[in-house]
Amino acid sequence: MNNIIECRSLCFSYIEGDNQTSILSNLMLDVKSGESIAILGPSGCGKSTLLNLIAGLDTPSSGDVLINNSDITKLNEQDRTELRANTFGFVYQFHHLLNDFSSVYNVAMPLLIKGVDKERAIAQSEKLLTKVGLENRLSHKPSELSGGERQRVAIARAMVVEPDCLLADEPTGNLDSKNAKDVLELILELNENDTSSLVIVTHDQDIANKMNRTLTLSNQQLI
Ligand SMILES: Nc1ncnc2c1ncn2[C@@H]1O[C@H](COP(=O)(O)OP(=O)(O)OP(=O)(O)O)[C@@H](O)[C@H]1O
Ligand SMILES: [Mg+2]
Repeated sequence: MNNIIECRSLCFSYIEGDNQTSILSNLMLDVKSGESIAILGPSGCGKSTLLNLIAGLDTPSSGDVLINNSDITKLNEQDRTELRANTFGFVYQFHHLLNDFSSVYNVAMPLLIKGVDKERAIAQSEKLLTKVGLENRLSHKPSELSGGERQRVAIARAMVVEPDCLLADEPTGNLDSKNAKDVLELILELNENDTSSLVIVTHDQDIANKMNRTLTLSNQQLI
């Protein structure tokens, strides 16, 4: 089976003044099409940084990130944005919803950007928001939602395009156990047909147990 994601000798460091802090060093990762992976590791070890590099939202200091065999680090901004939109659904650790838009429009946005007609995009959005238990919060804006509700809107937004790969950064971090369980089921549904891959950063052992593989980020590499 082909690899949807390949990280080759990935290095990333932050430069602050005269100091360079290395976060990832010669990291290797293969994710096969249809595979589900949990990434564990202590706070501050670089998990969010890794997801951002995979999605082309950050540029590595050195090394390659191949997405369906094309090197996302070598594409121009437009091609990179297109590859990202056509491949990934991204659940950010801090939801990044659009504050001026209702839940329905936040979730419908990726479909509208893809050119799906408005009526269908809204219907799809409402269906997913219902699945995450927010059928009574469709027209609320992010400022009118609780932290867990915002997280569920963000999950619906990432899944609405039925992405080839869902990148999720602690998707159940703010949820109670009932909602966490429902969200996990929804995520696993996406992976059920074995064509969508999952890469989930989590501290939740229940989620990790349901994935094909668990990797731990330790000493700047995945083991
Ligand atoms: N803009 C930045 N400038 C300098 N250092 C940064 C910057 N952003 C993140 N870092 C540092 O990089 C390291 C890795 O951060 P990252 O957010 O990837 O960790 P994480 O594993 O996702 O942690 P958590 O589990 O708390 O979310 C941290 O030590 C953080 O302080
Ligand atoms: Mg993080």
